[in-house]
Amino acid sequence: MDAVAEEMRLRRPVGGIGTPRREADVPEFVQGITDGRATGQPILIKIANGNTDGSKYAAFYDTPRPGHADLPALLKFPDHDLSGSGQFSGRLTAAIVAAGAVAKQIIAEKGVSVDAFTRSVGEVADGSVRTAAEARGSRAFATRACTQRLDDAMRDHIERVGASRDSVGGTVECIVSGLPIGFGGIWFEALDAELAHAMFGIPACKGVEFGDGFELAAMRGSQSNDAYRMDGGRIVTASNHMGGIVGGMCDGAPVVLRVAFKPTPSIGVEQRTINLRTGTDDTVTVEGRHDPCIVPRAVAVVEAMAALTVADQIARGFRWDWIL
Ligand SMILES: Cc1cc2nc3c(=O)[nH]c(=O)nc-3n(C[C@H](O)[C@H](O)[C@H](O)COP(=O)(O)O)c2cc1C
Repeated sequence: MDAVAEEMRLRRPVGGIGTPRREADVPEFVQGITDGRATGQPILIKIANGNTDGSKYAAFYDTPRPGHADLPALLKFPDHDLSGSGQFSGRLTAAIVAAGAVAKQIIAEKGVSVDAFTRSVGEVADGSVRTAAEARGSRAFATRACTQRLDDAMRDHIERVGASRDSVGGTVECIVSGLPIGFGGIWFEALDAELAHAMFGIPACKGVEFGDGFELAAMRGSQSNDAYRMDGGRIVTASNHMGGIVGGMCDGAPVVLRVAFKPTPSIGVEQRTINLRTGTDDTVTVEGRHDPCIVPRAVAVVEAMAALTVADQIARGFRWDWIL
């Protein structure tokens, strides 16, 4: 329960760089956990929405927000309730983080850990290769950057963008350590396919890449292949351009993936939209409580999604036998 509380803390908004909306975010374990231990029943977690204000969403029935889900949701579901953005709200990720905190404890028993950090916010980017330990160290910083200097620069950038009533995106990098060679699946069940599937389920995710990702497209094979070598009787890779996955299975290197988040769609800058009632062009300006940058809070969500994906593949028996 302490581990769950810690993960929930990391998803909570921080003043200046997150939404001013405050929620207690205390998960209630309705079923499946007794005295801090899993009973074997399905675990049912409930998280209350205490601090809501639906009034700020009334205008979007007529003038849907560009970049948010309002327009397709209203046309597809005529009775759609827009208050709080409903099922399209980042609020839904609170439950993912609580479930992920349980999954992390399951995979830890197999020696597997998941650590993520903020790689970039807008034009402020961390240019260093980071270890899992450094990623874990980002828990000390509000932006989830790896160093104080980067935390200051990212915070400053978010605050400046927020002060101009605008928003900014960025990238989260995630390292999964401890998976044995061969862990994963093939085709639709490939480890990279299932991780990407889970990451795209996070609202505002617009890209996922493994290892050198899109940069691989400009390399030669002689540059991109990760050479194998023996290290004290163990097979290791000399580099990690592939992000630890070949053929949908682990190659023994840490799994490294990056998730791109777009700028928060709800912004206080006037934007062009249409009016669904009058059938004319119109404008919309979003008031209310929104994150100027989703990225710092999304780090905990990315970790949770990765832990859930790995725990799910373990549960489905995706070769856990250590072959080396
Ligand atoms: C942790 C988190 C917080 C978010 N906060 C906001 C927010 O305050 N305002 C907003 O408009 N969108 C926010 N979003 C993003 C929207 O939920 C998302 O952009 C929207 O549902 C449209 O989906 P899409 O961007 O995946 O296409 C947040 C997302 C996450 C993961």
